[in-house]
Amino acid sequence: MPDDQKPKQPQQPAKPAARPAQDDDVAGKAYDSRLMRRLLTYLRPYKLQVVISSIATILKAATDSAGPLLVMIAVDTYMSSPPPEHLSWLPRHLSRYALTPMRGVTLIAAIYLCCLLFTFLLELLQTYLMQWTGQKIMFDMRRQIFRHLQRMSPAFYDRNPVGRLVTRLTSDVDALNEMFTSGVLAIFEDVFVLCFIVGIMIWKSWPLALLTVSVIPAILFVTRIFRARVRDSYRRQRAATAKINSFTQEYVSGMSIVQLFNRERRAFNSFSAVNAENKQAWTDAIFAYAWYYPVVELLSSTAIACVLWRGGVAVLHNTIFLAAHPWLQRAPGFFGTVSVGVLIGFIQYAQRFFRPIMDLSEKYNILQAAMAASERVFKLLDTEPTIVSPAHPIAASPSGSIEFRNVWFTYQSLTDEQRTFLEGVILSAAKNPRISDLATALTTGPLADIEWILRGVSFTIAPGETAAIVGHTGAGKTTIISLMMRFYDIQAGQILVDGVDIRDQDLTALRRRFGVVLQDSFLFTGTIAENIRLGSSWITDAALERAAEEVNIADFIRTLPAGFNEPVRERGATLSTGQKQLISFARALAHSPAILILDEATSSVDTDTEHRVRLALARMIAGRTSVLIAHRLSTVQSADTILVMHKGQLRERGTHQQLLAQHGLYYKLYQLQYRDQELRDPALSDSALATPALREPSTPPVTQPA
Ligand SMILES: Nc1ncnc2c1ncn2[C@@H]1O[C@H](COP(=O)(O)OP(=O)(O)O)[C@@H](O)[C@H]1O
Ligand SMILES: [Mg+2]
Repeated sequence: MPDDQKPKQPQQPAKPAARPAQDDDVAGKAYDSRLMRRLLTYLRPYKLQVVISSIATILKAATDSAGPLLVMIAVDTYMSSPPPEHLSWLPRHLSRYALTPMRGVTLIAAIYLCCLLFTFLLELLQTYLMQWTGQKIMFDMRRQIFRHLQRMSPAFYDRNPVGRLVTRLTSDVDALNEMFTSGVLAIFEDVFVLCFIVGIMIWKSWPLALLTVSVIPAILFVTRIFRARVRDSYRRQRAATAKINSFTQEYVSGMSIVQLFNRERRAFNSFSAVNAENKQAWTDAIFAYAWYYPVVELLSSTAIACVLWRGGVAVLHNTIFLAAHPWLQRAPGFFGTVSVGVLIGFIQYAQRFFRPIMDLSEKYNILQAAMAASERVFKLLDTEPTIVSPAHPIAASPSGSIEFRNVWFTYQSLTDEQRTFLEGVILSAAKNPRISDLATALTTGPLADIEWILRGVSFTIAPGETAAIVGHTGAGKTTIISLMMRFYDIQAGQILVDGVDIRDQDLTALRRRFGVVLQDSFLFTGTIAENIRLGSSWITDAALERAAEEVNIADFIRTLPAGFNEPVRERGATLSTGQKQLISFARALAHSPAILILDEATSSVDTDTEHRVRLALARMIAGRTSVLIAHRLSTVQSADTILVMHKGQLRERGTHQQLLAQHGLYYKLYQLQYRDQELRDPALSDSALATPALREPSTPPVTQPA
């Protein structure tokens, strides 16, 4: 079919699918109670583990902060030269057992070690449980998303690029896992540790505690600047990574075209641009980090130095001045009666104090990314599948008949106004069934700018009949078969399979009736046998091999090293197009469908393969309803009935001879092909007795839109 016969390219749908929200933007809220509540429902099955690890977290925060306190006690109780008059709770209890300082110190060291061991065990427990729960949640979530994706109709995939959906399943789920495992619980842990430390510090010496926290405003200020920087570059990073991924994916799969057209340099330059964007974003983030941590370190060191100075002065006051000015002892807190032990403990606490604060800003990023990811994941999960089985499906008695009744269809999604109008039109058409009225109503008024792909198509294919659909590229042939299997819902009219409206049938039951071979055969990773069986375990090995024999591919498969168990790699890159096509034929046949559909299934195969297929075809179509779409008219000549589609309308129907006699569209198509073939290979057209297979023009297939 010559290219100039192609209809004009369809316009873009009037209402393009809403651009998905800035997908890789993470600069959202760090906490959204609505999202968080929904996220927490994923924790529900693992309540026990969560409770245990929460308790472990609190205990760990406590044992972790006990160390410096023990040091304080050891120094003050057993190492100060005049032993203290008042013993605090722990040394008082200890002194019952340990009378000498030597034994006291040893005992405290032992307690210290126990605390460390306890912390270690708690950490082990908490880490294991949280990681385990995180993996479980990811597992559940991925399963849910994949299940959901399987329920979505093809119209959904027309609008959503594969790469984006893959991201939902991979990095978005990862972001949520990170939140569960190291985000939420770690924030609690940090907060607990801070509370414990601040509590002990205030208890021991509130002026020194004040001094320690005095740098916090400065740290918060620095953190604010840092976060703004990092957030921006983080956003750019994600955008750039997404670009690199999709660019690489596209160019790697299209590498042969790139090389064929010598586009390497240009592709490389485009890639370098995306790559540079990514590098810049990372460099900015690293620059921010390179500043942030040292600055916070500097601030915290300043605080520690202040504590050392002020605490040191207080210790000296304690020993020197208090002796001289006993009245000062009445206000010990303010002027500081700080012992050496308290000072040592304080310095240790101050060092531990700033770590959780720095961590918190990291956790903030994790939380923010998780919120953005969960928003996207939930949006996907909330997208309801548009095509579902009815609540009370009607079981059709399998006959194999197909009927289209005045079917109108468009791929565009209608606006609410258009939908209301359409419903009105259909209601009034039901009362007054004049087809011309309906056609006028559907192409005027609010529906005027709808690009109808099928315009009132009606036909019946009787059980066991072989029908062929012919027409130019874009005439709506593939659309007709997609509609039969209810991949899309029609806007007006009715489609009946086995005498029952397909909208009243169970989807699984309906689709099980069909065996389909498309122009591009799709093979999955697995063996050849698995690709033919496609999970239908009821297909026996014998049936499988018979199917392969019927389509004349069994001989070839048996020559492979592992025969039917030969693995298919990279979607069958090691097989020829024809071989892949024949495997798809075997797949369709092995499922012994009631209705067989071939959509341009032979257009991309070589003449030899087509010859094999033609021989197999007779066997395949025997005893079942078949619909063949082929742009080579010779393939369809023997069909019981030929439907001629033109611009969304069924223009002619009849047998080959009847249609030729009409001198209409089919006649013209036939003439075109015949001339085409003569130009190409005059020798063949001379031999009128040549087999149809040999007379086939070996034109490459016209590229199909969509
Ligand atoms: N998924 C789709 N979304 C939007 N338009 C589509 C889609 N598939 C096909 N079309 C359009 O519908 C028209 C008919 O396509 P199709 O049925 O595939 O034609 P044929 O199989 O006869 O070559 C074409 O104009 C095509 O661009
Ligand atoms: Mg098509």
